[in-house]
Amino acid sequence: MKITIIGTGYVGLVTGACLAELGNDVFCLDVDQRKIDLLNSGGIPIHEPGLEEVVARNRAAGRIQFSTDVAASVAHGDVQFIAVGTPPDEDGSADLQYVLAAARNIGQHMTGFKVIVDKSTVPVGTGDRVKAALQEALTARGVDATFSVVSNPEFLKEGAAVEDFMRPDRIVIGHDKTPEGEKAAAMMKKLYAPFNRNHERTFWMDVRSAEFTKYAANSMLATRISFMNELANLADRVGVDIEAVRHGIGSDPRIGHSFLYAGAGYGGSCFPKDVQALERTARQYDQDLLILRAVEAVNDKQKLVLGQKVIKRFGADLNGHHFAIWGLAFKPNTDDMREAPARVLVRQLLDAGATVAVYDPVAMEEAKRVLALDLNAAELARVRFATSPTDALSGAEALVIVTEWKAFRSPDFVKIKTLLKHAVIFDGRNLFAPEAMAEAGFEYHGIGRSILTRS
Ligand SMILES: NC(=O)c1ccc[n+]([C@@H]2O[C@H](COP(=O)([O-])OP(=O)(O)OC[C@H]3O[C@@H](n4cnc5c(N)ncnc54)[C@H](O)[C@@H]3O)[C@@H](O)[C@H]2O)c1
Repeated sequence: MKITIIGTGYVGLVTGACLAELGNDVFCLDVDQRKIDLLNSGGIPIHEPGLEEVVARNRAAGRIQFSTDVAASVAHGDVQFIAVGTPPDEDGSADLQYVLAAARNIGQHMTGFKVIVDKSTVPVGTGDRVKAALQEALTARGVDATFSVVSNPEFLKEGAAVEDFMRPDRIVIGHDKTPEGEKAAAMMKKLYAPFNRNHERTFWMDVRSAEFTKYAANSMLATRISFMNELANLADRVGVDIEAVRHGIGSDPRIGHSFLYAGAGYGGSCFPKDVQALERTARQYDQDLLILRAVEAVNDKQKLVLGQKVIKRFGADLNGHHFAIWGLAFKPNTDDMREAPARVLVRQLLDAGATVAVYDPVAMEEAKRVLALDLNAAELARVRFATSPTDALSGAEALVIVTEWKAFRSPDFVKIKTLLKHAVIFDGRNLFAPEAMAEAGFEYHGIGRSILTRS
């Protein structure tokens, strides 16, 4: 099938590459000329396991092309995926300007029937707004072409995006019951048929329910994280090991083990903004989502917990103190630092007067970019970008771990001890067993694991 992807970011590039891998003829559009130039020269703008190979293979086979040419992109695809960003507006609602601009672009150039797929995460009712924006552009041109707007939210996880797209646990498609809507549904069914061979994974529903499903999923996941974080902070006070509790409750099939990890707070481009956007939608309908308000507040506080533990241990005035930070990306296997807890920690330690050495296996370039935005020149001068985990440790008083990269899970503790001034580890992801750390001679501060320091 001929597919156009509008917006070649995390979701757009993965969607385009994976649909090309299945044999479709894919046109990826972006307004960012540098991104398109990079892709056309064989580069990949994001770190995502397996993506480079899929893109290279399909580029070589002529099944995927990258361009900034809007007219050509509209002419190309019978199915036009909108995968542009939906960042939070000032009031927390999803900013739909890019989605609506994409819709208008389609209306300004289309001549025959098109299926417009909202893949971006968009609030309930956006399908109607996309339809209106596109129709307005068509009317202005005096063109009488038909189309249908479908909602197909994306559930991929950064760091496992190719795998998630290729082996989805569900595909949600919302369409309307008009003849155009049914025609669009038939085309979507054909496009996704390869994913449904083993068993049917598609859930068909109306557009609004599909839009809502995506927010409900992310809000549920964020709720589990904030729930565990709040309990972990209590666990720290009452001398309970939150990891033991996690096992104890996760074994109940009604609860399950996933997404029950206490840590340094959730970040990334989705949970924070999606929780906010759903709250905002509720407020527009005079409802207050009390649980989600708490989820967000708990997460904002949680991002400060690691820094507070450092301050509690080393004092509020950290002038003259130097710390190593391992892990900058908001989660492993990505270089994405949007809303990353590490950014809050760096700010907190610098504000208290400390200097830091930071290291991440893949996000160093992104870290240099975002920290230059977060910090002024004097603050930035107090951040050293280390070349390896051990390089970050030299001269540091303690190690603070913020992202659970595999490479940090079994480090050389003997070496860590020799390089650090004090054998102190603050572990924002509960990677190690407190007992083992005590035996190895470390003072260990996890999240909700202070059982050993109980009096
Ligand atoms: N990143 C994720 O893990 C993830 C997962 C599921 C859903 N989503 C949702 O998918 C959407 C996209 O997220 P992302 O992380 O891929 O964003 P992104 O910022 O990585 O990519 C968006 C791209 O769209 C381009 N763009 C903006 N306006 C355009 C226009 N009019 N025409 C063509 N290109 C345009 C931008 O230049 C950018 O390259 C968001 O709504 C997000 O919430 C993201």
